[in-house]
Amino acid sequence: MDILFIGDIVGSPGRDMLTQYLPKLKDKYKPQITIVNGENAAAGKGITEKIYKQFLNLGVQTVTLGNHTWNKKEIIDFIDSATYLIRPANFPENNPGKGIVFIKSNQLEVAIINLQGRTFLDSHDDPFKKVDELIQEAKKRTNIIFIDFHAEATSEKQAFAWYVDGRVSAVVGTHTHTQTADERILPQGTAYITDVGMTGPYDGILGVEKESVINRFLTNMPVRFEVDKKGRNQLNGCFITIDNSTGKATKIERILINNDHPFFDM
Ligand SMILES: [Fe+2]
Ligand SMILES: [Fe+2]
Repeated sequence: MDILFIGDIVGSPGRDMLTQYLPKLKDKYKPQITIVNGENAAAGKGITEKIYKQFLNLGVQTVTLGNHTWNKKEIIDFIDSATYLIRPANFPENNPGKGIVFIKSNQLEVAIINLQGRTFLDSHDDPFKKVDELIQEAKKRTNIIFIDFHAEATSEKQAFAWYVDGRVSAVVGTHTHTQTADERILPQGTAYITDVGMTGPYDGILGVEKESVINRFLTNMPVRFEVDKKGRNQLNGCFITIDNSTGKATKIERILINNDHPFFDM
C-alpha cells in the first residue's frame, strides 16, 4: 500500500499548488491513497464544502483537519454528510463529524485517523487514550492504519509515535507548517515524521503575510493575519509504503517542492 500525504493546504496559494503538482506527484509515486490536511484551506482558516469537493475531484481520498476545524461555520452543516472528511477524534464526544474513516483500495482497507495534541493547543480528550480505542476498532478490519497527529510540541509528537510504534503503520505530524527532516521508520515498523510541513505561501510566515507577523512582534498590537498571495509558493508532503500483510511501513520519503528545491519527475 502506497500513501501520499500532503501537509496543511493554506488558502488559494495552497490549493493552486495542489492542483498544479498532484497530477505530477501521482505520476511519480503512483499512490493508491492520497490524503491532504485541509484545516487551513479556506482563506487560511477552516474549510468549505466547495473546497472539500474540489479536493475529492483532484483525486484526494481523505481530508484531515486540526485546530482550525470549526473556523468556517458552514462545516457544522456539512461535516456529517462528508464521508471522507475527518476531524480530530479526541474532540468532545458530541461534536459533529468523526475522527476515523476506512478507505478501500484493491480489496484492501486502510484506516485513517486524525488526532490532536494538547500541548500549547486547546485541551481536548487524551489523544493517547483515544488512540488505544481507535486502534482496537481499526484492527477488527485492517492492519493498515495511518494517523495524522495534529500537534504543536515535538516532544508530544515523538512520545505519541513511540507509544503506537508497531501498532499502526504511520504517524505523520501536522500543524507547525514547517517540515522537519526526521522522517524514519521506528523499530517496530511505524513510519514517522514530526511535521510534514505546509502547502501554500513560501515567502510568508507559516503562510501568513510576513509584514503583519513582523508588525505583531514589533508592536504587540492586534494585527489581522492574511494569507500571503504576493510571494512564491511551496508544497510539502511525504510518501509512505506499507507492507499489506503486516501493516508495517517499509519506506518513508519526504516531499519538498519550492524554488530552492525544484520538483524533478524522474
Ligand atoms: Fe495548519
Ligand atoms: Fe493547526
